[in-house]
Amino acid sequence: MTTRDTDWDGVRLHVVTGKGGTGKTTVAGALALALASGGKKVLLMEVEGRQGIAQLFDVPPLPYAERRIAIAAGSPSGQGGDVFALVADPESALVEYLEMFYSLRHAGTAMTKLGVMDFATTIAPGLRDVLLTGKAAEAVRRKDASRPGGRVYDAVVMDAPPTGRIGRFLNVTAEVSGLAKVGPIRGHADSVQKVIRSPQTVVHFVTVLEEMPVQETLDGIAELRELDAIRPGGIIVNMARPLALPPDELEAASEGVLDFDQLALGLKAAGLDDSLGLAAGLAAELSEQARTALAQDVQSQRLAAAGQPCYKLPWISDGMDLAGLYRLAASLRSQGAA
Ligand SMILES: Nc1ncnc2c1ncn2[C@@H]1O[C@H](COP(=O)(O)OP(=O)(O)OP(=O)(O)O)[C@@H](O)[C@H]1O
Ligand SMILES: [Mg+2]
Repeated sequence: MTTRDTDWDGVRLHVVTGKGGTGKTTVAGALALALASGGKKVLLMEVEGRQGIAQLFDVPPLPYAERRIAIAAGSPSGQGGDVFALVADPESALVEYLEMFYSLRHAGTAMTKLGVMDFATTIAPGLRDVLLTGKAAEAVRRKDASRPGGRVYDAVVMDAPPTGRIGRFLNVTAEVSGLAKVGPIRGHADSVQKVIRSPQTVVHFVTVLEEMPVQETLDGIAELRELDAIRPGGIIVNMARPLALPPDELEAASEGVLDFDQLALGLKAAGLDDSLGLAAGLAAELSEQARTALAQDVQSQRLAAAGQPCYKLPWISDGMDLAGLYRLAASLRSQGAA
């Protein structure tokens, strides 16, 4: 097995956030595949209970149990790795926590799932989050002496809540402290925070090159920087559709200054009738696309100014499927993200 330097060597918990719909689940899946390549073992975790991972990997709905869902591409010199998935919900995590820490198997089973849910939602909203982040922290720390590195998983990737909620979701000590100043819950929250606030954990932001999601990304990074020691990670620009024109032509096209006759001649040479009419339509389309591309450049520059590593993932034009997902994983790897 070969090792190579990546931007996130030493990181074992990758939290993936971003504005809704920008591709958090897709990018988290691609990142898990990328991190697993070359014989690694990675856990991909979902916390919002929508079975997005099962859909993405085209497998049946996932239970609260760790299942292998994919084999990563091998490196030239080594074998592939394994991606496991887990759909974590706070109710199951609470039952498991009670069993593990108090041997309260009976309490766990006697409390109906509904009762546990009432407890976790109405009494203690902050507790929901600490149970979910706690499950991730537990997976990060879980030991296996037979593996290189001594851990069950080389990395854990979390498909996390969106940017608007990520700060509160991760900053669980503050959220729980009103609830429990001392005692086992506080102790649990503190030990989870040790993982979240260590250099082992980073928060990646997925965005598309539009004003709103870019603003949310910049706000999210600023928010994390204010929360002591929760580290922003990479910025992953998803669904990028670059327009392959040199800068001066791009500028000209955006202003509608196109060599119209040239365009018409080209179309005529291609044997198309009504080359003038077609050229007009094509010119309008091209200048529209050029304006979009220029606006995207502005957003790219705003993101670059945030000072975090940036990655670009292409728009998969024929629809997202497993092959597309492996392509995104390879792209993340070639850019040094994994
Ligand atoms: N690079 C890409 N190319 C093409 N389609 C993509 C790409 N990335 C994501 N998609 C598609 O965009 C849609 C949204 O992606 P995804 O579900 O990953 O976003 P999300 O941020 O997790 O959304 P939500 O906020 O609902 O959880 C999906 O249909 C997905 O297949
Ligand atoms: Mg999602």
